[in-house]
Amino acid sequence: MEEIQNLPTLPTVIQKIHEILRDPTANAADVGDVIRQDASLTSKTLKLVNSAFYGFPKKINSITRAIVILGFNKIKNIALSASIFETFRGVTARGFDAKRFWEHSLAVAIATEVVAKDSGLEEQEDAFVAGLLHDIGKIIIAAHLKNEFLAILKSVEEEGLLMVEAEEKVLGANHALIGKWLGEKWKFPDGLVAPTARHHQPRLAREFRDLTCAVNLGDILARALGIGNGGDRGIPAIDGVVWDRFDLSTARIEKLCDAVLDGTDRAGAFLELIR
Ligand SMILES: [Fe+2]
Ligand SMILES: [Fe+2]
Repeated sequence: MEEIQNLPTLPTVIQKIHEILRDPTANAADVGDVIRQDASLTSKTLKLVNSAFYGFPKKINSITRAIVILGFNKIKNIALSASIFETFRGVTARGFDAKRFWEHSLAVAIATEVVAKDSGLEEQEDAFVAGLLHDIGKIIIAAHLKNEFLAILKSVEEEGLLMVEAEEKVLGANHALIGKWLGEKWKFPDGLVAPTARHHQPRLAREFRDLTCAVNLGDILARALGIGNGGDRGIPAIDGVVWDRFDLSTARIEKLCDAVLDGTDRAGAFLELIR
């Protein structure tokens, strides 16, 4: 693990946004000012805001207006999502299918938000980005530990292991832990780092357990719906704690799946950002 150097750095604008969020005297206008300083991020954020995903009848032409209509947290999260896509755009590695990886990550973002909203979770605002980030450690492995990544894929293929099991076998660590390191390095809020760290073991989540359970379920729903692919063939069973937390039933799962499909159908603008 110590061999991983040059981890991707977060765009300065996102660092600034997080600094503002930690400053109790800052306000929504300050966030707008920071986004506007970056012309490319401004245009990408507005493109997403005006996409079919949010479905506003009238075009929203400025960040200020977008903040008024959607709220500052939402705009911050849209800008953050655009930045994450931008940071990892163009990462290529043998055996790593970026397109399918991002389709999976986006579907998990949408599914996590669907679950969080449907269950009235307190952390609804963070759900989308938490889902988008959950497997980020896999890109780090693919791009920085290339030989190990190929060994992991081989072990998934030949031994029928899940990615996370194969990673532990080959690396002694898994993508959830590596994602946690990256999130900490980027000084992301704990509410985003904790679900990434425990998304395969929601039972062990001590903090942000609800959101961790939502990411875990979002991941399983995205896999069950066959949207994109994060490298696994198998679909893990839904853990009892997740089942209980969201009071699941077959009918409820079907309803959640319908909402996820509806969201992914309208989410093309996000995927355009990594093309
Ligand atoms: Fe994962
Ligand atoms: Fe995943």
